[in-house]
Amino acid sequence: MAKPFPNSLAFFLLLISLFSSTPESHRLPQFLGKASRLPKTQNNLTQQYTYETRYFHQTVDHFSFTDLPKFQQRYLINSDYWVGPNRMGPIFLYCGNEGDIEWFAVNTGFVWELAPRFGAMVVFPEHRYYGESMPYGSQKEAYKNASTLAHLTAEQALADYAVLITDLKRNLSAESSPVVLFGGSYGGMLAAWMRLKYPHIAIGALASSAPILQFEDIVPLETFYDIVSNDFKRESTSCFNTIKKSWNIINSVGQKANGLDHLAKTFHLCGKLKSSGDLSDWLDSAYSFLAMVDYPYPSEFLMPLPAYPIKEVCKEMDNSPDGTSVLDRIYKGISVYYNYTGIADCFELDDDPHGMSGWNWQACTEMVMPMSSNRDSSMFPEWEFNSTSYAEDCWNQFQVTPRPTWITTEFGGHDYKSILKTFGSNIIFSNGLLDPWSGGSVLENVSESVVALVTEKGAHHLDLRAATEDDPDWLVKQRASEVEIIEGWIEDYYKKKKATFNM
Ligand SMILES: *[C@@H]1O[C@H](CO)[C@@H](O)[C@H](O)[C@H]1NC(C)=O
Ligand SMILES: *[C@@H]1O[C@H](CO)[C@@H](O)[C@H](O)[C@H]1NC(C)=O
Ligand SMILES: *[C@@H]1O[C@H](CO)[C@@H](O)[C@H](O)[C@H]1NC(C)=O
Ligand SMILES: *[C@@H]1O[C@H](CO)[C@@H](O)[C@H](O)[C@H]1NC(C)=O
Ligand SMILES: *[C@@H]1O[C@H](CO)[C@@H](O)[C@H](O)[C@H]1NC(C)=O
Ligand SMILES: *[C@@H]1O[C@H](CO)[C@@H](O)[C@H](O)[C@H]1NC(C)=O
Repeated sequence: MAKPFPNSLAFFLLLISLFSSTPESHRLPQFLGKASRLPKTQNNLTQQYTYETRYFHQTVDHFSFTDLPKFQQRYLINSDYWVGPNRMGPIFLYCGNEGDIEWFAVNTGFVWELAPRFGAMVVFPEHRYYGESMPYGSQKEAYKNASTLAHLTAEQALADYAVLITDLKRNLSAESSPVVLFGGSYGGMLAAWMRLKYPHIAIGALASSAPILQFEDIVPLETFYDIVSNDFKRESTSCFNTIKKSWNIINSVGQKANGLDHLAKTFHLCGKLKSSGDLSDWLDSAYSFLAMVDYPYPSEFLMPLPAYPIKEVCKEMDNSPDGTSVLDRIYKGISVYYNYTGIADCFELDDDPHGMSGWNWQACTEMVMPMSSNRDSSMFPEWEFNSTSYAEDCWNQFQVTPRPTWITTEFGGHDYKSILKTFGSNIIFSNGLLDPWSGGSVLENVSESVVALVTEKGAHHLDLRAATEDDPDWLVKQRASEVEIIEGWIEDYYKKKKATFNM
């Protein structure tokens, strides 16, 4: 099976590469910069939040004293609601993910909505090697080879955030202001890890959909694809079965004379299909992303989609007339994801979806999240994680050898409950169980202050999104619990500060 990187299924970045395979009007990154190209029905996302864009001279290598030129780290800042240093106004720091920070900022409405309530400043630093924050002056130079990419690590990114926020506080004479961390997905992992590594810098972290346990064999390797599969099965067993059956059909049609042309035609592809595996990968990604964004209301997070899009995909697959072929059913279903607005003339499979993306580098070095797919419980083809071929792919792509045990050495993970109970505090792990990444996250309360807030019908960091009128009660409650807990951290902090002043 042509599946070079089964788990380089990046949280978002791959999505962004997926966009390059969809028509112009679907490209998400453009929702940010080129608002004028938005279809009329879309909101002007940038309009809701105003911020100043600043740049900070950042150290390329925090862990050596090599004299490398500094780079410009971009950060977004808003202090409209900040009550200021004298009143120790809180600072909300969002840990930037693997992508353009403006995109994450506009998709993290929760933080913006909390700011006035807490009199807080909001700061969104960008993750190095993404967006505009490029060491070595440009993306081309930064992504040149394994030596220039060497400084793209989670540890360096955390150190960036620590250095930046410390410097910012000094500039504002706000040393006493408490910092609360926020993050979703990979950014949520960073938020949780930052709280553990830098407890003197941040008083707590809301880590939403943060799969910090998706390493080595801490959770079963089948978890991710099993959750995706269950999301489909809970909507419809026949839909699950259609998808399960489709892989062999795609494969065998692909091997026939003119079979690839037939597949390309059935799926309305713009160009020629090079292998049936490319089609399978394209479908595989869509199902996984659908599971991530199986939100209870219409959204435009990745693609314009209806509420509970998996239900709609399954309806399309199930409701086709009797006699409709499996492939036609799949095409109809998948069109809900790739063509909900009906403006795609044809579908472009990205020629090189695993190009030099930053996340692939991270997945090939420290972020090795092994995944398999089980023949019985999953609707995906059987797939067993193979660390040898994984390492070979990484070598071919980057001339680098993965270190699959480094993350747990650096941040822990094994026996996390007893460790976090003893050495951790003030972390919220929030998850929605429809989200396939929830399988690698913390779903149980660990202690009084390391808590898991779990919703059965939530998806990928739904809680961090802006409130809408369509929010179900369980989501409103989840956010209310988060606010209450964060309030507790801040009050505690003020009490301790006061006690020190009065001494
Ligand atoms: C979107 O909002 C921003 C900020 O208010 C504004 O500068 C921009 O012109 C708006 N774009 C459109 C297409 O309305
Ligand atoms: C990577 O590129 C840099 C800058 O051009 C160069 O100095 C270095 O030798 C290259 N390293 C490798 C391993 O090719
Ligand atoms: C703090 O102020 C210095 C001097 O103006 C500036 O160079 C630096 O970028 C500021 N730090 C941050 C985080 O903005
Ligand atoms: C997208 O939907 C429209 C409207 O239903 C349809 O005309 C078009 O062929 C679809 N595009 C693809 C690639 O299937
Ligand atoms: C894993 O991959 C290696 C290298 O491609 C291959 O030689 C080996 O047979 C594979 N192992 C399994 C269990 O498939
Ligand atoms: C964890 O504890 C909180 C109360 O602090 C509770 O609301 C929540 O439901 C608990 N989480 C789980 C997964 O039991």
